[in-house]
Amino acid sequence: MSEETSKQIAAERAADYVQPDMVVGLGTGSTAYFAIRKLGKRIEEGLQIAGVPTSKQSHDLAEEFGIPLTDFNAVDRIDLTIDGADEVDPAFNLTKGGGGALLREKIVASASTREIIVADESKMCDALGAFPLPVEVTPFGWQVTRLHLAKLGCEPVLRRIEGEAFVTDNGNYIVDCPFERIDAPIALESRINAISGVVDCGLFCGLAHHVIVGKVDGTCEELTGPV
Ligand code: 5RP
Repeated sequence: MSEETSKQIAAERAADYVQPDMVVGLGTGSTAYFAIRKLGKRIEEGLQIAGVPTSKQSHDLAEEFGIPLTDFNAVDRIDLTIDGADEVDPAFNLTKGGGGALLREKIVASASTREIIVADESKMCDALGAFPLPVEVTPFGWQVTRLHLAKLGCEPVLRRIEGEAFVTDNGNYIVDCPFERIDAPIALESRINAISGVVDCGLFCGLAHHVIVGKVDGTCEELTGPV
């Protein structure tokens, strides 16, 4: 079985946790896609929920699969969010933002009573950092912000698509920071987010409650963590 199938197994299992009348956060990326698609199928069968997308991409998928959306500003809490991750460590610290949606994903995760992370086995690691850490920065002064980030011990690179700066749904840029190994993610998140020009970074600490790992043998492992 392929990595794609592992993603589907994990994401569809997570969609089983959605109960009627929940407000559901809809994550971004190729793994979260399968959860959104499965929720669309459950809605066809009569499930009633309201979705809060974490990106324009998940907004469009929700519309495609018939998931009713609600205004995020009209709700106090999100009952359950299903999202992917680029890395997951044993303490459920995450690296996110490979798809550039980290800011909305973090706002939604912070408002969620339960955050389920869905991933294939390749995302599980002993320590974060092999995946370059995405940091969302304002376009104004991004070069200076990049230099401040470099002082933390990496060589940050502006994310580009076809030669042009990648622009997030919020109109910002992403600077990818290859730290190689992050031993103290909570402390690093604070230091990065204290830099003027940084909007937020892709370190998600203390936000995931449950991780579902899809395996190539067609099974999935469910981990409930330290949060
Ligand atoms: C987007 C994200 C994604 O959840 C993360 O990049 C994982 O994506 P995929 O499921 O495609 O591997 O954080 O900003």
